[in-house]
Amino acid sequence: MDGKTAIVTGANTGIGKETAKDLASRGVHVVLACRDMEKAERAVADIMREVDGASVVAKKLDLTDTKSICEFAEIIYNTEKSLHLLINNAGVAACPYSTTADGFEMQFGVNYLGHFFLTFLLLDLLKHSAPSRIINLSSMVHFMGKINFEDVNSEKSYHAVKAYAQSKMANILFTRELARRVEDLGISVFAVDPGKVNTEISRHLSWPLQVFLKTFGFMIKTPEEGSYTTLFCAVTPDLQSGGYYRNCAPATCSRAASDDHTACKLWALSCHLLGVHWQ
Ligand SMILES: NC(=O)c1ccc[n+]([C@@H]2O[C@H](COP(=O)([O-])OP(=O)(O)OC[C@H]3O[C@@H](n4cnc5c(N)ncnc54)[C@H](OP(=O)(O)O)[C@@H]3O)[C@@H](O)[C@H]2O)c1
Repeated sequence: MDGKTAIVTGANTGIGKETAKDLASRGVHVVLACRDMEKAERAVADIMREVDGASVVAKKLDLTDTKSICEFAEIIYNTEKSLHLLINNAGVAACPYSTTADGFEMQFGVNYLGHFFLTFLLLDLLKHSAPSRIINLSSMVHFMGKINFEDVNSEKSYHAVKAYAQSKMANILFTRELARRVEDLGISVFAVDPGKVNTEISRHLSWPLQVFLKTFGFMIKTPEEGSYTTLFCAVTPDLQSGGYYRNCAPATCSRAASDDHTACKLWALSCHLLGVHWQ
């Protein structure tokens, strides 16, 4: 991994920060793509303190805003010569209903569409740096999900957990479809379930539920342990592209998440919503 370059979204805390730290310890130059630059610079300082000779920088990326995603991509093209790893890690879970700057439901917009758009913009650099990898953080919660094509932005009715499950299913469908499209370009794509990890992801749950989950061990992994499957997909040679991984091994996702027709339909809808042509 020495000398390679990685971008980790949402790397100022939780699984993303541990992923960035581990990659830095392997000699990877890591870009921490974060919405809050104060938190991001603190994470950079922490990693530099803990990893001798770490090469880490923070850059502003707010996945709620396609303008910010464009600005981030432009900075990357101006500052980085190559990109071997794109880790689409950032996420929000079960938040109250709100929309992104572009009018998308927040969880669908940040967890899925924002990363779809970021990947679209960075694909040339990933192609140019091949062999390269893209890793999309999903969740076992996708088993509860379905893509609601009639109301993908939950404008008619909103259920916070269903919207999270939809976004995490979209991450897997995107992984499958993208893997198929880039297989001849030397780019591999993986979807990861990190397990139940004790991070800030539960911030929107009620306090009693948060205390319950943490006290009774439902969020059992540390953030470091939560980063293992992402790292497994980042460093293990000869992995099956397009697959879903958990506990550092290939895993079975839901039937709905392995449906190629739905993956294709979601791809077309995503291009339409973002106004991009991605053949
Ligand atoms: N923890 C679990 O049990 C679990 C289980 C399954 C899947 N996952 C997935 O794992 C990934 C990492 O989650 P985590 O547990 O490490 O959660 P976390 O501690 O809450 O970290 C989430 C990260 O995403 C960032 N983020 C949120 N909205 C953003 C935006 N609009 N633009 C840019 N960055 C944004 C956050 O930034 P701020 O600090 O500024 O908010 C934070 O850095 C997520 O995709 C999550 O869905 C987690």
